[in-house]
Amino acid sequence: MDIESIKNALKQDLDTAGSSADLEALRVKYLGRKGVFAELTGSIPAMAPEQRGAFGKQVNELKVMALALFEEKQKSLGSAATAPEVEKPDMGMPGIAQDIGRLHVLTQIVNEICGIFARMGFLIVDGLEVETEYNNFTGLNIPLEHPSREAFDTFYLKGLNAAALGRPATDGKLLLRSQTSSVQISVMKASKPPLAVVAPGRVYRPDAVDASHSFMFHQIEGFMVDRGVKFSDLKGTLEFFAKAVFGQDIKMRFRPHFFPFTEPSAEIDISCIICKGKGCSVCGKKGWLEILGSGMIHPNVFKNVGYDPKKYTGFAFGMGVERIAMLKYGINDIRLFYENDLRFLRQF
Ligand code: DAH
Repeated sequence: MDIESIKNALKQDLDTAGSSADLEALRVKYLGRKGVFAELTGSIPAMAPEQRGAFGKQVNELKVMALALFEEKQKSLGSAATAPEVEKPDMGMPGIAQDIGRLHVLTQIVNEICGIFARMGFLIVDGLEVETEYNNFTGLNIPLEHPSREAFDTFYLKGLNAAALGRPATDGKLLLRSQTSSVQISVMKASKPPLAVVAPGRVYRPDAVDASHSFMFHQIEGFMVDRGVKFSDLKGTLEFFAKAVFGQDIKMRFRPHFFPFTEPSAEIDISCIICKGKGCSVCGKKGWLEILGSGMIHPNVFKNVGYDPKKYTGFAFGMGVERIAMLKYGINDIRLFYENDLRFLRQF
């Protein structure tokens, strides 16, 4: 190959190149790893030593020229032949807003309430939603004949009993817990006093759905056990809680009630947050709103979990999360919590 004819061929090739793709092909043909120049340089070692210097110089000169010719051609083909220009970011362009979402209003309420009790030293515990008849009923001193144990008040899991959870078969059938009070039994069986626990979670009841009923809703259970826990401890604890959630100026009253697992038992009312106790449609003209059930833990419950009722006393309470949220925000239909309508959810 002689230098002169290569120079001519290169010029001719470059003349006929009409696009950046053509030019790229020529670049490979001449300057590529197996291209003309690589071949020329590769042939040098085989030459007679006295020829090598002069030939090498010619090759170099030709290469410098070739690079210049390529560059020239590239310019004449316009910017399309140059490396694609990197698009510069437009610093003035507004960003793309990220919809980061938020916690569901029920989660917010659960966090708020559990946070209040956590500040008083309560431990937050997760219980099981699939429970045994024992933890949901028997252990809580709820007798076999109690109506809440009927299939029309509780979801039983067909064909499964406690053994499926690794518990003694005598703990009975499996069910979807109907109350978070079941956590009292599981926690007390697993640990010794002193203990103070809140347990938020879902509960299930085969109720027909309407504005105030749902087959699934949320409760928060709380209980405290130690030597010398008194009814006044229950009162002080619940008053602190109610004022933190509903405002320092609300009033509270304890209304005697019955629950199988507490003795004495009381329902707690707060003065109506809408009418401040005067009587309105929200409180049914009573001036009071019921917010939870509570009482001193029944000695039979202590016996059932292996605590000595002569040594220990304790209080317990349970509340419906939806109910608290409905009272706090004036929500009048429980179904709104579950329908995922963002127009509702975005308000909280
Ligand atoms: N478990 C009860 C219910 O679902 C609520 C309740 C009442 C819980 C009194 C308690 C209590 O711990 O002491 O209706």
